[in-house]
Order: sequence, then structure tokens, then C-alpha cells
Amino acid sequence: MAHEMILTETRGPVALITLNRPKALNALCDQLMRELGEALLAYDADPAVAAIVITGNEKAFAAGADIKEMQARTYPAVLQNDFIAPWETVLRVKKPVIAAVAGFALGGGCELAMMCDMILAADTAKFGQPEINLGVIPGAGGTQRFTRAVGKSKAMEMVLTGRMMGAEEAERANLVARVVPAAELVAEALKVGEKLATLSATALVVAKDSVNAAFETTLTEGVKTERRLFLSLFATEDQKEGMAAFAEKRKANFRNR
Ligand code: CAA
Repeated sequence: MAHEMILTETRGPVALITLNRPKALNALCDQLMRELGEALLAYDADPAVAAIVITGNEKAFAAGADIKEMQARTYPAVLQNDFIAPWETVLRVKKPVIAAVAGFALGGGCELAMMCDMILAADTAKFGQPEINLGVIPGAGGTQRFTRAVGKSKAMEMVLTGRMMGAEEAERANLVARVVPAAELVAEALKVGEKLATLSATALVVAKDSVNAAFETTLTEGVKTERRLFLSLFATEDQKEGMAAFAEKRKANFRNR
């Protein structure tokens, strides 16, 4: 894949997408987000890829939407062309997507990380929704996903004051799955991807759907959805293989059927 603002590579069964606009702290301009969306859909369609890691560099995962690109935009123009809409391509990916965050994840950068299925944070990571300093508010899910992750009081503090939080606070607040030393961040994210590659891709799609349903519905409906999805997996060969492998004390060989 030829791109200017991202780097793409595969490490075994895991695709690694590196946001690559270091001089602008990976500010998320239209071109970068278009390239990211293209790469995500291509990897989602590639049967050799089991999971996708999105990362930045040591200074920034991404310092937000590109302020200089947004600066002159008018209300009629953005109403007719919602430039944030293409960002949501990541939500269409069926395979697991891991955000590996070092340095700044601010504004749209934090929102992009929160759209991924899980966030692994380097001990250098700094999260925040500083849009208020620009006279606006988060526009790619920050007020919603941040609040669901950390609760009202902390979300209000972050969104209203624009304060940044470090990796440890982010882990305490349940914004991130885990904090790892910065030097090990990408290796650790790839390791999670490799683990996922040994599992049933079918079960992973269903697991992702079921966890996501928790954010969209009531507990009763969510549990009903989960039950239907759980029972549906008894129609797969992977369920037979997984349970047979356990009973026979061997490693399962899932064939994604
Ligand atoms: N957009 C465009 N350019 C950006 C940028 C952004 N979000 N963030 C950083 N840059 C650019 C800077 O303009 C600078 O470029 P020049 O060298 O050409 O001047 C370069 O990246 C390096 O940045 P700094 O010199 O500012 O680096 P620093 O280490 O002193 O500060 C920082 C780092 C605190 C992250 C600071 O860059 C900053 O505050 N950035 C903006 C953060 C922000 O407000 N993000 C929210 C954007 S709005 C949004 O995301 C809307 C939404 O919800 C979708």
C-alpha cells in the first residue's frame, strides 16, 4: 500500500499501521484519515491478517484533528461535508483493532484511540480533550466515549478544562487496558495481536459485537443479545474444535469456520 502519511507493514498475522506526520505531531488531517481508512479496510479484508495495531511515534500518537486545516472552515461547508465522518471507518472493522499510544493522544487523537477496541498505553502517554481551548468541543465521540470510559465527573473535568492525564491516571480511570514501558509498547501490542491470531476469528468477531452491544442497549437486552450470539457459536466448527481440544488436553487448531 502506497501512502504518504501512514506506514503500513505486517508482522506475521498482525498488521501494524504507524501514523506518520511527525512534524505535526501526527495531526489528523483529511488525507491522513483517508489513508488510515483505506489501510484499515484493506487489512480487514485480508485473510492473512488477524488483528490490526495502530500506533504513532514516541512523542505523539496524535495531537488531534489538524487545527490549521480546520481553522478556515465555515459552518455551511462542514455541514455539507462532515469531515469527521470518514474517521468512523475504524468502527466498521470486524477484526480486533489495538491502539498503541505513546506521547500525546489529544482531542481527535484520544477519540481515535477510543474508537479502537482497546488501548495499550506507554508510560509516556498523555490523554486529553483540549478542544475547549480552541473554542469548540470534541467532535469525534470525545464527550461520549470518554464519559462512558471514565464516568461523568472526570469526563466533565477533562472536557471542560482541557487538562491532560498521564498513563497511570488513565489506567486507574479505565481509559486504557494496560500501561507498559514505552520501549516495549509496540512489541506488547503485537504480542496481543499474535495471541488473537491463535483464536477463532469467527468467535472474535462475535465477541467484539457483543461487548460493543453493551454501549448501545439496556442490561436485559444486552444479555439477550449476548446469549443469542453465544448460542450461535455452537453452529461453528471452531466451537467443536475448541472444546474437543480442551477435553483432549491439546492446543486448538481453529480454522475460522
Ligand atoms: N493540528 C495542527 N498542527 C498541530 C497540532 C494539531 N492538532 N498539534 C500540533 N501541531 C503542530 C504545531 O503547530 C507545530 O507545528 P510547527 O512546527 O509548524 O509550528 C508542531 O505540530 C509541533 O507542535 P508544538 O510546537 O506545539 O509542540 P509542543 O511540544 O510545544 O506542544 C502540544 C505539544 C501540547 C500537543 C501542542 O502541540 C498542542 O497543544 N497541540 C494541539 C492539541 C489540540 O488542541 N488538539 C485538539 C485538536 S481539535 C480536535 O481534535 C477536534 C476533534 O475533536 C475532532
